[in-house]
Amino acid sequence: MAIVNQKGGVGKTTTAINLAAAMAEMGRQVVLIDLDPQGNTTSGLGFDVRRQRRTVYHLLSGEAVIDDVALPTSVSGLHLVPSDLSLAGAEIELATLPEREFRLRSALGELKGGFGHVIIDCPPSLGLLTLNALTAAQEVLVPVQCEFYALEGLGNLVYTLQLVRERLNADLRLTGIVMTQFDSRTTVAWDVVEEVRRAYPTEIFATLIPRNVRLSEAPSHGRPITDYDPSCKGAIAYRELAKEVLAR
Ligand SMILES: Nc1ncnc2c1ncn2[C@@H]1O[C@H](COP(=O)(O)OP(=O)(O)OP(=O)(O)O)[C@@H](O)[C@H]1O
Ligand SMILES: [Mg+2]
Repeated sequence: MAIVNQKGGVGKTTTAINLAAAMAEMGRQVVLIDLDPQGNTTSGLGFDVRRQRRTVYHLLSGEAVIDDVALPTSVSGLHLVPSDLSLAGAEIELATLPEREFRLRSALGELKGGFGHVIIDCPPSLGLLTLNALTAAQEVLVPVQCEFYALEGLGNLVYTLQLVRERLNADLRLTGIVMTQFDSRTTVAWDVVEEVRRAYPTEIFATLIPRNVRLSEAPSHGRPITDYDPSCKGAIAYRELAKEVLAR
C-alpha cells in the first residue's frame, strides 16, 4: 500500500508510521518502506538517516534485495526499509536505468511472503519515486489535511492513479482517503470533511485523525504513537484506521 499525496505536510509520514505500527500491534507482519529522501519515516522510528549502510536506494538500484535492507524496529512485527539523503539523487539516476518505473516492483518481487503487509511512504511529488511506489503497490491510501484547499490537487492525484492503472499497473486500487489533523472545534474542518465526503463518498474513511500534539511529538522520540502514548486520541484513531484498512 502506497501512502500518496503530492501535497506536502498532509500527514503521509505520520499515517505511514502509525498505521504500520497499529497493524503490527494487531499481530500483522508489516514492512514500512521510506521512499522519501527527507527520511522522516526513518528518523521517526528512531534511526539515524545519515548512518544507514543499506537503504531503499540499494533496492531501487538492484544492489540489494529486501531481506538485506529491512531492519527490525522497536515495534514487534514491524520492519523498516530506511531512506537516506542519497535517495535525493536517485530520482535523476533512476531516469537513466532500464525499466525505470518498475525498479521497486522488481525488488519487491523478491519478497518471499515473510511480510504480510508492505506500506510505502512517498515523497510530496508525483515524480519517479512515487511512480515506482504506484507501480509496485496494489493499494493507495491518500491522507488529506482538513484545511481550506484540501480538495485542490486531489482530482489531479486521482487522474494520475487512473493513468498508472491504464499504463503501468492495472491492479492499482484507491483503498481510501483519510482526513488528517481534524480539529472538531473549527467549522472549516467540518466543512472540508463534508466536501470530501460529497466528492468521494465511498473512498473516505469513517475514522478522522484528530489534530493531536502527541502525534507531532512522537517522531522526535523515535517511536510510533501506539508506543509513545498508547491511550491518547491519536493512537486510538490510528488503531481505528488500521481496522478499517484491514477490513477493506
Ligand atoms: N494528526 C496530527 N496532529 C498533529 N500534528 C500532526 C498530525 N499529523 C501530522 N502532524 C504534523 O504535521 C507535520 C507534517 O506531517 P507529516 O510529516 O506526517 O506530513 P507529510 O505529508 O509526510 O509531509 P511531507 O510531504 O513533507 O513528507 C509534522 O510535523 C507532523 O508531526
Ligand atoms: Mg513525509
